[in-house]
Amino acid sequence: VSISRIGHVSLRVPDLDDWTRFFCEIVGLRVVERSADEVFLTASHRHHEIRLTGGYPYACETVGLDVRSEDELQVLIGRAHRHGLAVTADGPAIGARRVVRVEGPDLPPVELCCGTERVEISYDGSYETVGPRPRKLGHLTLQSATYQETAEVLEEVFGFRLSDSVPNLFRWYRCNADHHGIGLGPGENRLHHYAFELSCFEEFRQLGDHLFRRDLEMVWGPGRHGPGNNLFAYFRDPGGGLVEMYADLLQIEDEEHYRPGEFTPEEAGNRWGPQTVPPDEWFEAGTPLCAGGRRRS
Ligand SMILES: [Fe+2]
Repeated sequence: VSISRIGHVSLRVPDLDDWTRFFCEIVGLRVVERSADEVFLTASHRHHEIRLTGGYPYACETVGLDVRSEDELQVLIGRAHRHGLAVTADGPAIGARRVVRVEGPDLPPVELCCGTERVEISYDGSYETVGPRPRKLGHLTLQSATYQETAEVLEEVFGFRLSDSVPNLFRWYRCNADHHGIGLGPGENRLHHYAFELSCFEEFRQLGDHLFRRDLEMVWGPGRHGPGNNLFAYFRDPGGGLVEMYADLLQIEDEEHYRPGEFTPEEAGNRWGPQTVPPDEWFEAGTPLCAGGRRRS
C-alpha cells in the first residue's frame, strides 16, 4: 500500500484559542507551530495531526495521508487522474516536503503528504498534559452520500484494503498493520469522527474523570468494538464533531492469510453491552465538510 499512515485532519474553527485549548487540555496534544491564523498540533512524531485554521463555520477542510515515497506518490497521482479525480495543488507545505491535493466527489479533499517533517517527542514527561496523552491520530471515519463509489476510490485510487464490514452499512480499511485507518459509512458527506490511540484501559478511566471534572461527558463507551477488537470511548469536540479514543486495536501482520469478516450492527458496536449499538447522539454528531464538499454531478 502506498499510504503509510493516516496523517492529519484540518479543521476550520471559529476561535483558534478556544480550540487550541481543547486539543491541548482535553485531547492531550501539544502545539508544534502556530501563526496568526493557523495552529499545528500533534500527539506523535508527525509535525501535525491536527491543523486548525481560523474561520467560520466549523468544518473539516482536508484530511492528510502520508505517502511512502515520491515514486509511490506518482503512482497515486496517475490513479487519481484515471479515476477522474482532480489534482488541485502540488508543492511544499508547512510540515511536509511535498503535498498533493486530490479532490473527488463526496469526500473531503485529500492531502497526500510526502517527506512529512518529524518532531522530537519525549515520553519522559517533558511534555505535560493534564488529561490523557494519546500516542497518535490513528483513524478517521467518513460518511459519503455515494458510499459505494467512495469505497471504490479508497480501494482503487488510494489502495486501502478492506479489513471488515457490516454489509451495506460500514467498512473498515487499513493501510498498515492497524486494523483500520479509515472507516466509511453511508450518509450526508462529512467527517463522522477522528480517533486517537491510548496505551491502556487505565487511560480511559483518566479520560472519564478528566471529562467529568470539566462538565463534559462521553457520548458512547467505554466499550469494545467487534471489528478491530478495540476499546473505545467517544466525546464531542466544541463544534459538535466526535473524537474517539481507542486502544488495543487488532494488528494485521499476516496480509497473505487475512480475510475480511462480516459483522451485524450489534456485533460491530459494543461487545460488552448493554448499549450494543450506538446511541442517537453518536449518529447525530460529526463534522461537516467545507462548503458541504463537492457533490457528484
Ligand atoms: Fe472509530
